[in-house]
Amino acid sequence: MPLLVAVVGAGPSGVYAAEALTRQSRVEGLGVRVLVLDRLPVPFGLVRYGVAPDHPSIRSIRSTLERTLDAAGVTFYGDVQVGRDLSVDELRASVDAVVYAYGAGSDRRLGIPGEELPGSVAAPELVTWYTGHPDVHPDDGTAAPGHPWVPGLLSAAREVVVVGAGNVALDVVRVLVRGVDELAVTDMAHEVLVALRDRAVTDVHVLARRGPAYTAFTTKELRELGELDDLDLLVDPADLVLDESSRLVAETDRVAARNLAVLAEWAGRPTRGASHRVHLHFWTTPLAVLGTTHVEGVRVTRSAIGPDGLVRATGEPWDLPAQVVVRAVGYRGLRLPGAPYDERTGRIPHSEGRVIRDGAFSPGEYVTGWIKRGPTGVIGTNKSDAVETVASLLDDVEQGTLVPSAAPDALPALLASRGLHPLGMPEWHRIDAAEIARGQQLGRPRTTLAHRRELLDAAAAPEGGDPGSGRT
Ligand SMILES: Cc1cc2nc3c(=O)[nH]c(=O)nc-3n(C[C@H](O)[C@H](O)[C@H](O)COP(=O)(O)OP(=O)(O)OC[C@H]3O[C@@H](n4cnc5c(N)ncnc54)[C@H](O)[C@@H]3O)c2cc1C
Ligand SMILES: NC(=O)c1ccc[n+]([C@@H]2O[C@H](COP(=O)([O-])OP(=O)(O)OC[C@H]3O[C@@H](n4cnc5c(N)ncnc54)[C@H](OP(=O)(O)O)[C@@H]3O)[C@@H](O)[C@H]2O)c1
Repeated sequence: MPLLVAVVGAGPSGVYAAEALTRQSRVEGLGVRVLVLDRLPVPFGLVRYGVAPDHPSIRSIRSTLERTLDAAGVTFYGDVQVGRDLSVDELRASVDAVVYAYGAGSDRRLGIPGEELPGSVAAPELVTWYTGHPDVHPDDGTAAPGHPWVPGLLSAAREVVVVGAGNVALDVVRVLVRGVDELAVTDMAHEVLVALRDRAVTDVHVLARRGPAYTAFTTKELRELGELDDLDLLVDPADLVLDESSRLVAETDRVAARNLAVLAEWAGRPTRGASHRVHLHFWTTPLAVLGTTHVEGVRVTRSAIGPDGLVRATGEPWDLPAQVVVRAVGYRGLRLPGAPYDERTGRIPHSEGRVIRDGAFSPGEYVTGWIKRGPTGVIGTNKSDAVETVASLLDDVEQGTLVPSAAPDALPALLASRGLHPLGMPEWHRIDAAEIARGQQLGRPRTTLAHRRELLDAAAAPEGGDPGSGRT
C-alpha cells in the first residue's frame, strides 16, 4: 500500500517536497503518492506571484516545478484552501502524513503613526498587484477589500518612499522606474502594464535603517539597478565612510564588500539629468507617515546601532515628501487554523521538519519552506529544506512510527462531497496555453491572466479557445 502524503502549498518548498518524496529510494519497496493542494487555481506560489516579472530566467524555474507536478505519483489540487474548504483535522484523517508548505502570507509592520493612511502599502500588496494575483485583481475590477487601488496611487504619485534594504525593495524600485517598453517583454498582466504606462513616479527614496555594509541586497540584484536606462542613482559619499563595525563587516562578509563596491561606483557617478531618480538613504529610519487623508510624506531621522545591537534614532527629524510609501521590510507567516503556530516567530514549531504540537512531535505532521524557517532564502534554499523534512518523514517510516494505511480515495471523495472542483495539471496546461495565446495577440510573449474568472475560463476552455471571451 502506498504512503499517501498531502502537501499544503504548491510553491517551491511544497513541490520540492513532492519531488523528494516521489524520488525516494531509501525505504525499500515504499511507494509514495503525493497530493499537492493550493488555495489558488494555479501552482508555483511566489515563483508566479513574487519573482519580479523582469526576471524571466528565475520565473522559468516554473518549468522545473511543473515537471514534478506532472510526474507520476503526484496530483495537483488547485483552488482548495486548507482551513476553509476542509479542516486540518479532516485533511490529516484522509492521508498518512501532511507537509505544511504554505509560505508566509502576510507582511511585517513598521509600527509607526500614519502607517494605515491611504497610499501606505505593504510590498506584498504591490507585488501581488504587479504579478497579477487574483486576490488583488477581483473579477469586478474593483479594489479587493483591504487592498489599495494601485493604479490610482501610481498615477498620482511623483515621489515614493520604499522602506527596507532587501531584494524585495529592489524589485519594487525596478518596477516603479523601469521603462514600460522593457516591461512589455515580460509576462505582466496587460492591465498592469497599462497602469504602469500611466505612472507619474519620478523619484524613489529607499530607506535603509542601517549602513551600506548591512544591507540585505544580493550584489547581482543591486548591480542591475545601476544598469537601468534613464535613471540617476543618488548615494551620499559620506554614507560610504565606514565606522569601525561596518569595516569589520566589510572585511568578513564578501557580499557586503561587493555591495559596497557597487555603491561606491554609484556615488562617484555624475548625474545624467535622467527622468527618474533613486535616492539611497542609509542610516535613515522612518518615524511617521505624514498626511491627513492620504500619504503626504515620511518623517525620518538618522539612526545608529546602539551598544545592544539594536537600531535607534539619533539626531533631528526631517521630512521627505512622498505620495506613496511601500513597506518592504519582510514577510510574515500566518496561522493556519488547526495547525500549530508560534505567534512570536510567525512559524510552525518543528525540529528538522517534524511538527511540534503541544510540546511533543506530532505523528504524521511535517513542515517545509518559509512557514518552517521564516521568510528568508532564495528558491533553491527550499530544496535542501524540503529534503531535510522528507528525510525526517522517511526516518519515521523506517522507525515504524509512520505506517501507510490511508485509503487512496479518501481525499478526493472528501473534496467531492464538499462540492469542490479542484483544478489539476491538465487545467494548468490550458491556462498556460491561454496566457501565451493572449500575449501573442498583444504582440507580447505571454500575459498573465490576473482575474480568477479568466483563469477558470481558460482552465475550462477547449484547446486554443479564447479564455477572455467568457469574462464578465
Ligand atoms: C517578492 C518576492 C520576490 C522573490 N524573488 C525571488 C527571486 O527572484 N529569486 C529567488 O531565488 N527567490 C525569490 N524569492 C524567494 C522565494 O520566492 C521563496 O524562497 C519561496 O517562494 C518560498 O517558498 P514556499 O513554498 O515556502 O512559499 P510560497 O512560494 O509562498 O508558496 C506557498 C503556497 O502555499 C499556498 N497556500 C497558502 N495558504 C494555503 C492554504 N491555506 N491552503 C492551500 N494552499 C495555501 C499559496 O497559495 C502558495 O502557492 C522572492 C520572494 C518574494 C517575496
Ligand atoms: N532576486 C532575488 O534573488 C530575490 C528577490 C526578492 C526576494 N528574495 C529573497 O526573499 C527573501 C525576503 O526578502 P525581503 O526583501 O522581503 O526581506 P529581507 O531580505 O529580510 O530584507 C528586509 C529589509 O527590511 C529592513 N527592515 C526590517 N524591519 C525594518 C523596520 N522596522 N524598519 C526599517 N527597515 C526594516 C531590514 O533591515 P535590517 O537588516 O536592519 O533588519 C532589511 O533591509 C530574502 O531572502 C530575499 O533574498 C530574493
